[in-house]
Amino acid sequence: MIRLENVYKSFGNLDVLKGINLEINIGDSMVVFGASGSGKSVMLKLIMGLLKPDKGEIYVDDKNINELKRSDLDQLRTRFGMLFQGAALFDSMTVYENVTLGRSEHGTMSREERIECARRNLEMVGLGGTEKKYPAELSGGMKKRVGLARALCMEPEIILYDEPTTGLDPVSADKINDLIIELRDRLKITSIAVTHDLYSAFRIGQRFAMLYQGNIRFDGTKEEMEASDDEVLKDFLSHSSINADK
Ligand SMILES: Nc1ncnc2c1ncn2[C@@H]1O[C@H](COP(=O)(O)OP(=O)(O)OP(=O)(O)O)[C@@H](O)[C@H]1O
Ligand SMILES: [Mg+2]
Repeated sequence: MIRLENVYKSFGNLDVLKGINLEINIGDSMVVFGASGSGKSVMLKLIMGLLKPDKGEIYVDDKNINELKRSDLDQLRTRFGMLFQGAALFDSMTVYENVTLGRSEHGTMSREERIECARRNLEMVGLGGTEKKYPAELSGGMKKRVGLARALCMEPEIILYDEPTTGLDPVSADKINDLIIELRDRLKITSIAVTHDLYSAFRIGQRFAMLYQGNIRFDGTKEEMEASDDEVLKDFLSHSSINADK
């Protein structure tokens, strides 16, 4: 469904991705982990077409997204939901406006449908009745859940989660994990999550890839990962998420 072929991305003289190859199939629940600064967020932005690779190809359903016309790319993006690192809510907008943002932009829903979409998805993330609140009135975990409701309001086929649990207390983090698992199992949404929270990674993922110094160091199942004798991988696994640094 999604395929990255030999993808390179640099910023100035910082080479972030140095020839990434990765394939995500329909229904996969893929977790990409790696240290802070290893390029996880950059990879998600490339997949959504928010950044362009310097070299290499990114395919969604066998379409090279960097060769799409603007209108086709916009169309493709409507199939994605993204939970941004830090939720990325607009502080001047209410929860309702934030959740339905993508829908008003694309003009694909009537006002009644938008109200219903917000109600249903806020309910789903355990925040029913918060439509009129502003982000400043919410905790970090609640903001992430509003971000998730916004992604769900797009009725996406694919969800990209950028650090869905980072910075949350263990209970709030696990609520998010549970939601992600529910979406995976109930709605069969294909997902890619990036995180350095290994506990979360193992809860939500079915396949795992490790990004390390610009390359995919590992790609496989949990069992394969545990059986691996790659020192870099073993070292990462033996450290808690909080200690994982470059
Ligand atoms: N738009 C940009 N312009 C310049 N440099 C950037 C840009 N986006 C990312 N970078 C750099 O690319 C590197 C990878 O960034 P990225 O945000 O993908 O890391 P990450 O793996 O998501 O880290 P974290 O776990 O801390 O979120 C970092 O060194 C970052 O400073
Ligand atoms: Mg990041």
